[in-house]
Amino acid sequence: MARYAYVNGRYVPHDEGTVHIEDRGYQFADGVYEVIPIIDDRMVDAAPHLDRLDRSLSEMNIAAPLSRKVLELVMRELIERNGVSEGLIYMQVTRGVAPRDHKFPKGVRPSIVMTTKKVDFLSQKKLSDGVKVITIPDIRWERCDIKTISLLPNCMAKTQAFEAGAYEAWQVDGDGNVTEGASSNAWIVTADGKLLTRPATHDILRGVTRQSLLRIAAEEGLSFEERPFSVEEAKTAREAFVSSATSFVTPVVQIDDTVIGNGGPGILSGRLQGWYLDYCAGLNTKER
Ligand code: PDD
Repeated sequence: MARYAYVNGRYVPHDEGTVHIEDRGYQFADGVYEVIPIIDDRMVDAAPHLDRLDRSLSEMNIAAPLSRKVLELVMRELIERNGVSEGLIYMQVTRGVAPRDHKFPKGVRPSIVMTTKKVDFLSQKKLSDGVKVITIPDIRWERCDIKTISLLPNCMAKTQAFEAGAYEAWQVDGDGNVTEGASSNAWIVTADGKLLTRPATHDILRGVTRQSLLRIAAEEGLSFEERPFSVEEAKTAREAFVSSATSFVTPVVQIDDTVIGNGGPGILSGRLQGWYLDYCAGLNTKER
């Protein structure tokens, strides 16, 4: 089956999709993006992802390339053309093409690129077995709430994790508190069973998965709090996990050299994962 990409108004064979050499995304990482999972032929939480895209665009002063209605049509068309029933849709919007000059150009048309990828998410071993994370200093800027394509520190962090045999790197602020992973939000369950995740300020990305999990936690009557937690607290936690559009709820079984809990996925993490995957598949008995 042919694979298409959507590039500035045209559906083109994936391998032939190109952008201009003076696109500001290419030269300055001047753009934003979203990743939306697809499970059982449905996009998961498309609306909050597109709301966040709008917010990122407006924080960066980039015009919306398409109306919400047209954007949704294009997304559905691309998923249909590419026959994706499980996987993801990626979209990126940059400020557009202009002669290289640091300051934002005026009157430039934003560029938009959309691709899809088939991923067999639900059979991934990380969901059932859990993963290791490492901790590293957070060297990023002070607007991590904007989902910008400027991801070099995140790529460095992820590479460091990979080289240490870990799935993710938990970045740590100057106070010794975990901010978030290179591409996911960080969570722990304290010794007394409380779910903790850092508040969504400018220090982290307000994960769409995170928001859905907080809602599910509230609906299920779990005890939870949004507050920073330290590396030490994480290492002595009963459970830990990460959340994102592509990792869903992935249990963390080791942080640096410290084994978490009994070394296997935690009970609460497993329950949250189950509830969340049901939600993704539209199977939930509760109204969400
Ligand atoms: N990353 N924090 C960071 C730094 C992220 O890059 C992501 C997502 C998240 C989780 O957000 P969400 O739940 O909305 O996916 C948190 C995506 C998956 C990526 O870059 O591929």
